[in-house]
Amino acid sequence: MKRRLRGLARIAAVPVVILCALVGTAAVAHATTLSGVVTDSRHRPLAGVFVTARNVGMKMSVSVLSDGKGRYSITNLFPGRYELDAHRIGYRSADVKDFHLTQFPARKSFRLVKTPDIAAQMPASAWLHSLPPGPYKADFLSDCTVCHQIGDAATRGPRTADQWTAVAQSMIANPFIYGGMTKGVDAKKLGQWLAANGFGPGQEHRFAPPAPASGAAARVVINQYDVGGPNVAAHDMAVEPRTGMAWVDDFFADLLVRISPLNNAQKVYRVPIKKSGIHTIGFDRRGMLWGTLLLGDSVVRFDPRTGKFKVYKGFKKGSATHSFPIDRFGYVEFDHQGRLWITELFGNAVASLDPKTGVVKEYHSPSDRGHPYGIAIDNEGRVWYAKYASNIIGAINPENGAITERELPHKHSCVHRITIDAHDRIWTPDDGYSALVMYDIGKNAFKSYPLPDADSSPYAARVDGVTGDIWVNGSGADAIYKFDPATEEFTTYRLPLLVSYTRMVSIDYSTGDVWTSLSNLPNGQTGRSHTEVVRLHFPASARERAAVPSIAKAANTVSRR
Ligand code: HEC
Repeated sequence: MKRRLRGLARIAAVPVVILCALVGTAAVAHATTLSGVVTDSRHRPLAGVFVTARNVGMKMSVSVLSDGKGRYSITNLFPGRYELDAHRIGYRSADVKDFHLTQFPARKSFRLVKTPDIAAQMPASAWLHSLPPGPYKADFLSDCTVCHQIGDAATRGPRTADQWTAVAQSMIANPFIYGGMTKGVDAKKLGQWLAANGFGPGQEHRFAPPAPASGAAARVVINQYDVGGPNVAAHDMAVEPRTGMAWVDDFFADLLVRISPLNNAQKVYRVPIKKSGIHTIGFDRRGMLWGTLLLGDSVVRFDPRTGKFKVYKGFKKGSATHSFPIDRFGYVEFDHQGRLWITELFGNAVASLDPKTGVVKEYHSPSDRGHPYGIAIDNEGRVWYAKYASNIIGAINPENGAITERELPHKHSCVHRITIDAHDRIWTPDDGYSALVMYDIGKNAFKSYPLPDADSSPYAARVDGVTGDIWVNGSGADAIYKFDPATEEFTTYRLPLLVSYTRMVSIDYSTGDVWTSLSNLPNGQTGRSHTEVVRLHFPASARERAAVPSIAKAANTVSRR
């Protein structure tokens, strides 16, 4: 009950935040509304249609879903030039190229016509689902979906067995970290397997359109902000706790970008080492941003107030500094001695960094399979890590350096970026089997929950310390999932754009908004000339809003005692 009240208390706080934004900015004081109805070719209301209004000048968009009566409404829009678009899988999308929005509320309705050819509209996960299940597939998923989706015409084929083999060989020979990172699929076997199972010439893919979103998932408001150019390699993103600014890094261009959620105003900072591959980012409780430089074997601390970087070297060359722990309230987490722990992707080790002295100490994994990847600290202060391209998780006692490792029950499971909740349960996506796996540290017990979409290539898990919910990326399914550990139920939030490969989840704890970045690498496969940082906002239902006054009453009762 307490957990639910805290969730609702946060809902109660939301209007205040919006109000401040309205009062503080003259332009938004004229915010306007666009609404209308979506129908099918026979004038029947159509639910679950994404209506997107894209502000051309500000390069940002808002998407909402039509309700059971086909109605939609987008509020808080700046007057200006817009592109409008209405789409739902199974229908041809309808768009308006140039829509001028004044300060007066406007209406625009859409009629969508069914299309029988929906294969091109379906996410990568649906295509991959046509491949036969089994250990071979689990290994293919972890080897071939960690950088990009098999999600567009160029990556899906059709190709002959030889052509698939050639592509797989070129991926394995790719100098950019591929060879070292995965389990190492056999290119020839893979080529034959893909060509024989739906990805060869002349093979047809038949899909049933998914059911439209309903309940909380249908009320989501999704903001998207364009960032970078055609070759952008957005990796992680983090919301800055004090300011609500969204920060995203560019792995190839060595950049940090600060984005204002209000108007997409951006400020760009250059990492001081070239070709250093900025990867994981997060804020500490003092407001400093920390980042790992994966290709530069170092860690940076960046002060957003001065724009200055401090670089921590001292890691072995080629160790590939990957991730550090982020606690359940979104802050970078240090151990009891103030040290930061970092996984080394290619060092087969986890390192501690003492920011006061700059001293780095390496702790080697006792197993040779997999690559240290996700990392988190439990309530006892133990440092947990997950080894990508394996089913292994391990724990380090930071006091004496003792290491123990254990394996997920499925040998072909693939662990990713982990999170630890208040009850010392580790949550990790299982890329091989499209599942969310929970490991209860105290009970030494695993439980696996299949994600709502099969073959969804999940990437990261992140606990919301206020609600207890676990967020997981469906990187190959153009979706984000919320898992409620109390009810063991998932809610699926679909994203409006095809090839929405999401990589990291960051929570704005003042609003409950969930942020992520689109991170298909290479970006060119998305067909877009930029990438997008995404915010999911969850308006309360009428019932939840009605419950808020009773929380205030309950709080008064408590304080009077
Ligand atoms: C380390 C990141 C990475 C991994 C892992 C990876 N790819 Fe790629 N993939 C890329 C990049 C970068 C490109 C674009 C550059 C290129 O075409 O070489 C690409 C392009 C492709 C293309 C399009 C090629 C074309 O002709 O346009 C296909 C198909 C593909 N990958 C399939 C795969 C398969 C199958 C695997 C698993 C064996 C895989 N990828 C693993 C990074 C990766």
